[in-house]
Amino acid sequence: MHIVAIDGPAGSGKSSVSKACAKALGFGYLDTGAGYRALTFAVQNLGLKIAYQSAEQISHNFDYAISQDPDNYWVKVGNLDVTYEIRTPEVGSGVSEFAGLPQVRQYMLTLTKGLVQASDRPGIIVEGRDITTKVFPDAKTRILLTASEEVRLGRRSAELPEGTIVADQVTRRDQNDSKVVDFLAPAEGVILVDSSELDFDQTVRAVIALVANK
Ligand code: DC
Repeated sequence: MHIVAIDGPAGSGKSSVSKACAKALGFGYLDTGAGYRALTFAVQNLGLKIAYQSAEQISHNFDYAISQDPDNYWVKVGNLDVTYEIRTPEVGSGVSEFAGLPQVRQYMLTLTKGLVQASDRPGIIVEGRDITTKVFPDAKTRILLTASEEVRLGRRSAELPEGTIVADQVTRRDQNDSKVVDFLAPAEGVILVDSSELDFDQTVRAVIALVANK
């Protein structure tokens, strides 16, 4: 199976670009940030306990499911569809704290590998922060998708409810997250795609060309 690992900061366009590329290639699409978000939602609203828990205990108590179909994206915790709930500012501002816990990262690593292994497509695009470096350092294609801070803030403000302080949502979260994993500079062998000067379609074409080249 062709694994395409894509990392990048918030607002880099990672999710929408990955989804569009997966559609075009007939590949699966796996959004790993959704796992961290759903876990945060479960801690905040469903009484999930994370402190002093091992990765195995988390996996036992957190009933997580995510679609890998780029045409039909959903996220569930137990029977609850949380596709939209995990995008709230509450989840956004809480997620870095939990993403910094070693047992949470260990749980997500095992989860992601298992989900990819179970995929029945010819390839899968896996996007996140540590996919090119920690989760699939041997992926066939490894890309770091970035954009200048100005461009990223602009893109995120178009997505969030009016009046949201975007710099808080993007810059601060990236600062916190990058203390845990470095996704601001490409690791050795990782191809940098800077989308600051590219529109959406150009970025999608650039990524598809890299995948097709392998
Ligand atoms: O991609 P996103 O903004 O939905 O990710 C939400 C959070 O999850 C992000 O603040 C950092 C964390 N994350 C991570 O630590 N490692 C990943 N592979 C994906 C996301």
